[in-house]
This record gives sequence, C-alpha cells and structure tokens, in this order.
Amino acid sequence: MESLGNDLEYYEKCFENYLKISNRYVNWLQWIVTVFDENLLPKLKPNGRKDSSPLKMLGIGCSDGTIDYDFVRRWSAYYPKIFNRALEPGDAIENYQQIVTDKPITGATWKFHHQSWEEFCSEVPPGSEKFHFINAISVLYYMEDWRREVMNMYEYLEDGGLLLIVVTADHNRSWKLPEQFPELTDHPAEKVNSKTVEEFLKTESVNFKTVMLRTVVDISSIFEDGSADGKKLLDFLTHVKDFEQTASPEMVSKFKKYLKNGDCTYRESGRILLDNSCGALIIEKSIPK
Ligand SMILES: C[S@@+](CC[C@H](N)C(=O)[O-])C[C@H]1O[C@@H](n2cnc3c(N)ncnc32)[C@H](O)[C@@H]1O
Repeated sequence: MESLGNDLEYYEKCFENYLKISNRYVNWLQWIVTVFDENLLPKLKPNGRKDSSPLKMLGIGCSDGTIDYDFVRRWSAYYPKIFNRALEPGDAIENYQQIVTDKPITGATWKFHHQSWEEFCSEVPPGSEKFHFINAISVLYYMEDWRREVMNMYEYLEDGGLLLIVVTADHNRSWKLPEQFPELTDHPAEKVNSKTVEEFLKTESVNFKTVMLRTVVDISSIFEDGSADGKKLLDFLTHVKDFEQTASPEMVSKFKKYLKNGDCTYRESGRILLDNSCGALIIEKSIPK
C-alpha cells in the first residue's frame, strides 16, 4: 500500500473531493465567524484606532487559500495594511495566487512560498521574524515532529500574537481508525489530535483555548459501485493511494464493514454519516510584564 502523501497531486484531488462532500467551506466559513469575532478579534483588535503599522500574518500549508484569504479579508476591516506570508508545498498555491490576483484586497500584500514549513524554518530561523497571527489548519499531521514544529511556530509569534492550530477532535471517532487498523501505518490521525496538542501545550505552559468545529461527512458514495467520489474519499480516509485496488480483499472488506457498522458512523435518512469534527486551538503568546 502506497501512502497518499507520496503523490501530492493526487492527494490534492482527494482533499478537494473531501471538501466538496463534507461541505467543509460552507461549515468553516460559518465557523470562522465564531472563531474570528469571538476569539481572535477581541485579542488583536487595534485599540480603537486604525493602526498604521501592518498586521503580519503567516499561513502554513494554506492549500488553495480559500480559508486564508477569508482571514485576510476579515482582518483588513481593522488593519489598513496587512503583510501575509503564505506557505504551501503543493501546486494548489497557484490557485491561491490566482485568487489574490483576481480579487486584491486594498492594503494587503502577500509573499508566496512554494515550500514546506520545515524548509521555511531552515531559511528563516524561528524567531528571526515575528508575526501577529499564524495559522496551521489541518497540517500538523504531515510534520515529522509536530511538537517541535508547534514550538517553532510559537517562536515566530509577536508578544500578544495568536497562533491558530486546527486538528481532528479527540472525540472524533474517525481518528481512531488507525487503532482498529494498525496496517494503516502512515495514517495522519495516528500522530495527533486536539487532546494530544492540549496535553503538550500544558507541559510547555503555553496559554490556549479550544473551540470545537462539528463536521459530518456523508460517506455513502464509498458503498456505491464505481463511484469516483467514493474511491477518492476512501483513499483520503485510509491515507492510502488506490486503497481498494492495492490492499488485501480481506482488509478492504473489513475496513468498509467497520465504516458501515462501526462506532465512527451513524445513519440518517438512509445515508451513512461520519463524524469528522475538529478542534481549533487558539494559542496566545503573553505580553511580558
Ligand atoms: C488538509 S490540507 C489543509 C489546507 C488548508 N490549511 C485548509 O485548511 O484548507 C493540508 C495542507 O498541508 C500541506 N502540507 C503538507 N505537509 C506540509 C508541511 N510539511 N509544511 C507545510 N504544509 C504542508 C499540504 O500540501 C496541504 O495543502
């Protein structure tokens, strides 16, 4: 079985398919309102004045930029100048560049980095540049040592700055898939979830707050013969390229049976729904007294 991570181009197709099926952007753009208005804005809002110094942002693994662009748009109502570094190793970064070209935001500038977080850290050592707002949404799974990388992210924060990390929620049963199927050795959820990040932050005495985002995915297409969406969804959930074609028939059958009848899914109006909720950790770097 080949890891989905070995083929970024195909991974992006599976991710896009997942976004479409889970209605993720609709859910997320609603959720961002809560996260932004209730948790980010009160902490980083300029003090009643239009601050003339730029808000510095860093987006890690921003894919096609849909979510990152929305954040810039929201901040631009409060900051006349925004500087945003956008990091993405995959080719989806070109779509993000296109969004910015098509819909520029007055006062906002971008620098795009077609590279991984680890490559960026070796070029710009942690702490040598500072940002007011950093986001790492659904990206820790792909880092070899996520604990070290979270502390590197923290190093880049300005005093009083905010780091938003989103990972799968610990109550989300789908992250338990690798527990049931140890053969999925490269499954991203095996490494990290909201609870492991919370526990780590506590040991480092870092201030944070968690906000949950409920996401439900209709996985019925996996059980429809010949469904192209179902194939990509199955590959995304197992993190295996061509899972059905390359895993043993016994494993495919056991996996599908678990998806259908296991404790990670439930039925509604004849559809099979998977709870794939996420936890957003909002980390604040305190201003020294
Ligand atoms: C699940 S997607 C999330 C994309 C985006 N943040 C969002 O929420 O829509 C994960 C992204 O992380 C990128 N990625 C994978 N490994 C990375 C790394 N080491 N550093 C930075 N980005 C990485 C992938 O290319 C992919 O675009």
